[in-house]
Amino acid sequence: MNKTAVLAYSGGLDTSISIKWIKDNYKMDVICALVDCGQPDNLDEAYQRAIDAGASEAFIIDAKDEFVNDFIYPSIKSNVKYEKKYPLATAIARPLIVKKLVELARSKGAEALAHGCTGKGNDQVRFDVGIRTLAPDLKIIAPQREWNLSREDAIEYARKNNIKINVNKKSPYSIDENFWGRSIECGVLEDPWAEPPEEIYKWTKITRETGDYEYIELGFENGLPVSLNGKSISGIDLIMGLNQQAGKYGIGRIDMVENRLIGIKSREIYESPAAEILIEAHRQLESIVLDRELLHYKYLIEEKMAELIYYGLWFTPLRKCLMSFIDESQEYVTGRLKIRLEYKNFRVSGRKSDFSLYDRDLATYDRKDKFDPVHSESFIKIFGYPYEILGRKGRINE
Ligand code: ARG
Repeated sequence: MNKTAVLAYSGGLDTSISIKWIKDNYKMDVICALVDCGQPDNLDEAYQRAIDAGASEAFIIDAKDEFVNDFIYPSIKSNVKYEKKYPLATAIARPLIVKKLVELARSKGAEALAHGCTGKGNDQVRFDVGIRTLAPDLKIIAPQREWNLSREDAIEYARKNNIKINVNKKSPYSIDENFWGRSIECGVLEDPWAEPPEEIYKWTKITRETGDYEYIELGFENGLPVSLNGKSISGIDLIMGLNQQAGKYGIGRIDMVENRLIGIKSREIYESPAAEILIEAHRQLESIVLDRELLHYKYLIEEKMAELIYYGLWFTPLRKCLMSFIDESQEYVTGRLKIRLEYKNFRVSGRKSDFSLYDRDLATYDRKDKFDPVHSESFIKIFGYPYEILGRKGRINE
């Protein structure tokens, strides 16, 4: 009896030809896993393509709720943005896909797990490290990395072997999509000076005009979004709805050069309207309910969290410990935000919470305030001593 490999199958060219390649080169049967994290692909068609391409079995695994609850929600609470910009849509889906692959491999008694990552990106690290953590006994097969085919060769291989594929030969872009965002790279985007052509955008095709605007109101409870315009709403509906509603204004486009874990810089474009709005709204709510010291310390935790997610270190003690800190910090992050959507932009225009620490009587510049500036003088006297002493000793850092 042949051994079995479970392959993370996307329905695209690379994973389609991988089925035959694994069968030929490893003499293994291939079971395909299509993990649904909210990508808009037609998974039933992809299922059929897997079977037609020689998979002995294929499974569509609905991981949408888990993706939102266990990966997107923690991302909102932690305000994670890699290098201050990328909301990590591709990166946070990887540990979930790994988890699902391992579950399927166990239930089928498989000996290996396979993925379609190239040898140049971050995703191979996230898959390999995740698999080795959850299932160190399983063999890892990465056809793209081991085989190193060009795109033309891959198309030719599919044609020769009668493998049905669903690629538009002309599209030069590599795309990854799920609820939290759409990542686009390659082609003309590899020139960091080249402005991205409009054709690459799908979620943020602009149908609104300059001067168009509308307001939405978001409600948060304990750090999580729970309502839109006063009505409670599920996470999935909110995220999908915001992607559509804000996408029409061109909100959520990110253009950046990022540092990959494997040492090179790469230019990537993201479309993440819901992620951009929800994280900014959450941050602004935190700005009124968290005290200064907690807020500032949380920034450090958020940076570390973003970095470890990017590096594929989800299944680690550090992530668990940082997450406890984040969860604990969310007790009073309950309130409402008013947000103005406008052409290619959005702004939080109002924030409100029963737990707000903002005290207007202290903050006001009107005459009848409660703040006594006499105390400021004494406070500054003491706060400034170290620098006064340096100054007296002539140690001035100009
Ligand atoms: N650079 C992003 C990351 O490492 C996205 C990778 C996938 N991008 C793509 N266009 N296929 O998380």
